[in-house]
Amino acid sequence: MKKLAAGNWKMNGSMAALAEVDALIAAHPAPACEMLLCPPTPLIAAMAARAEGSALQVGGQDCHQNSSGAHTGDVSAAMLAEAGASHVILGHSERRADHGESSDLVRQKAEAALAAGLIAVVCLGETEAERDAGATLAVIGAQLDASIPAGSTAATVVIAYEPVWAIGTGRTPTLAQIAEVHGFLRARLAGLIGAEAAGLRLLYGGSVKPSNAAEIFALPEVDGALVGGASLKAADFGAIVAALSAA
Ligand code: 13P
Repeated sequence: MKKLAAGNWKMNGSMAALAEVDALIAAHPAPACEMLLCPPTPLIAAMAARAEGSALQVGGQDCHQNSSGAHTGDVSAAMLAEAGASHVILGHSERRADHGESSDLVRQKAEAALAAGLIAVVCLGETEAERDAGATLAVIGAQLDASIPAGSTAATVVIAYEPVWAIGTGRTPTLAQIAEVHGFLRARLAGLIGAEAAGLRLLYGGSVKPSNAAEIFALPEVDGALVGGASLKAADFGAIVAALSAA
């Protein structure tokens, strides 16, 4: 599998902001890594239209676990796919915190995503209190076990390690801390899905920016990044794409 530079626009952006997408595509017509942006749902179709024929893939930020029905405000995985999405982020810490999403629910959503032909980008991460308590690996291991769907393969699932305290704060773990968690995740995945674990992309997320991307991408078991704030500007995200392409 190629490495993956993924951007999460969160609740940011607009039709006008899609000009950044045009700039990104123009600057990176054929990167050595995969390139994905996940805008808010109302922008997916328009972004996918702009990205058609380019190296840029488009994803959603969440989906419902059911395929249809009385779920006001929710969208199904098939709706995301029809709008042009190839991926969907699931279990982001902001959804786990703001919407009370459990790992069990995240797994159900991931199963729905896979059934609709989407690649599930499943997010895991410890809070600062959990890290301070020495519970990081226990928390992440439990999240991993419960969040990833049965039958996950390197082609259908991506894992993003995003320490909650590093998101949007400008703070990042030490390189040794990132390497420790990614090594742990790779080994734990092998116990869950066997040989597929070797190729499954493990992304780091949390305050990734052009100035720290290269050193993070040089770590073993880091196969890309999930980028928030720095994915909003073509120049910044493009620099991260270039760093991953060179890694
Ligand atoms: P920042 O890159 O803004 O810290 O956000 C990371 C993130 O949450 C991506 O999903």
